[in-house]
Amino acid sequence: MTGGRLSVAVLISGRGSNLQALIDAVASGRLAVSLDAVISNDPRAPGLERAAAAGLATFVEDHRAFTSREAFDDALGRRVDALAPDLIVLAGFMRVLGTRFVDRFLGRLINIHPSLLPAFPGLHTHQRALDAGVARHGVTVHFVTPELDGGPAIAQAEVPVLPGDDADQLAARVLEREHVLLPWVVDLFVARRLRLDARAGVVFDGKPLAQPLQLNSVHP
Ligand code: GRF
Repeated sequence: MTGGRLSVAVLISGRGSNLQALIDAVASGRLAVSLDAVISNDPRAPGLERAAAAGLATFVEDHRAFTSREAFDDALGRRVDALAPDLIVLAGFMRVLGTRFVDRFLGRLINIHPSLLPAFPGLHTHQRALDAGVARHGVTVHFVTPELDGGPAIAQAEVPVLPGDDADQLAARVLEREHVLLPWVVDLFVARRLRLDARAGVVFDGKPLAQPLQLNSVHP
């Protein structure tokens, strides 16, 4: 908690357009959180410049400086712990986090993934969606569990796959929805409408969520 607002740390690896969506939502008053830290595993991540331009504290934990995945996870975990955020958002964070890290922050760790999970976990989701010939594609925000892209889905936004789409065109259509979906879910979390339950999965407004929330029905 910072200045009466829940504290959010954002973990990035690259461009940071989802981070920018959060920055913009806070700046415009649509999202009442304190963005207390942006942490990148890559010192060259352009998202760090976005964070600095917005006056946010930035930190780098360069994974290449560690001899093992566990050592990196532990250093990152200590960094996050020191910040004591209420919510940790993986926004284009491209390192797989181990069980020890995930368990430490379970229930306050969310990720944005560019597919309609459980379809297409992992990388190259847009090309894989095209190759599979699906008619609908999209984005998911989910609680992070030790299973890669396998944690309980909180919310999704769908987009159509249009004739002639290439992966870049499809990615751009999905990205536009990502930038609405992520601030929306963060807002639901800070409003304490969402939580992760060990047995029930995602609990929304006190009830287990049978299906992920659908952004398009709320923000068309
Ligand atoms: C987004 O597509 C996000 O869903 C995925 O990685 C990409 C990050 O983009 N996890 P950006 O760095 O937020 O621009």
